[in-house]
Amino acid sequence: PVTVCPNPAAGAVAVAKRIASLIKSKQANGEKAVLGLATGVTPIAVYTELIRLHKDEGLSFKNVITFNLDEYYPMRPDAPQSYVRFMNENLFDHIDIDRANIHIPDGTLPEDKIAGFCINYEKQIEDLGGLDLQILGIGRTGHIGFNEPGSAPNSGTRLVTLDDLTRTDAARDFGGKGAVPTKAITMGVGTIFKAREIILMAWSKKKATIIKKAVEGELSGEVPATYLQLSDNVEFILDEPAASELT
Ligand code: F6R
Repeated sequence: PVTVCPNPAAGAVAVAKRIASLIKSKQANGEKAVLGLATGVTPIAVYTELIRLHKDEGLSFKNVITFNLDEYYPMRPDAPQSYVRFMNENLFDHIDIDRANIHIPDGTLPEDKIAGFCINYEKQIEDLGGLDLQILGIGRTGHIGFNEPGSAPNSGTRLVTLDDLTRTDAARDFGGKGAVPTKAITMGVGTIFKAREIILMAWSKKKATIIKKAVEGELSGEVPATYLQLSDNVEFILDEPAASELT
């Protein structure tokens, strides 16, 4: 289903509310909430609202376990563009999550250790009973996580090559396209698909064309987000400009 919100702030608050109620219902049963998280501009307001709920309303993250979708490769965690730094600055440094419960693909691994790391990432998620909720943005290539065009529907966590358009879009963060890594470690389409609930958010006119393809376009590996059409557990949460090309 598609939900169109009057503005990104309203969408972000609605998503944060969903996350908070999942965390609280798990807490009430003495269970962990296993969340799949995204970086980028899109989810920032969700994280801001979660921090507010923690500070103002006492929402605790002590029972929360997180798995981030992706990280550039190679990438030092203390680099300005690292997703470790992004998550710390935009969420983790401001809540009471146990650091041991945070998982982000490791951009510092030697290349021959990546395959083993990826298998273990999948296993850690599985051993916890799978992701309760996965949050997604969407790239202009139709990527979810860094599953670029050509990704298989059953793909798992792995090292991938970034699409040229994705590197163009990241150029601003890196002070030029030449400095953007050519690779990344990402959860697969299959990893995402196994989540019990998936919320894909998109804000702004810039995303309208890819949202039309993702939601209404023909199923295709050329637009990995179209695979989400096959799931009954996906919700697209859009602002009006992002939804403006939908029929
Ligand atoms: C980030 C991620 C990417 C982004 C996408 C949109 O962890 O997996 O798929 O969600 O590139 O990025 P923004 O939100 O910056 O437009």
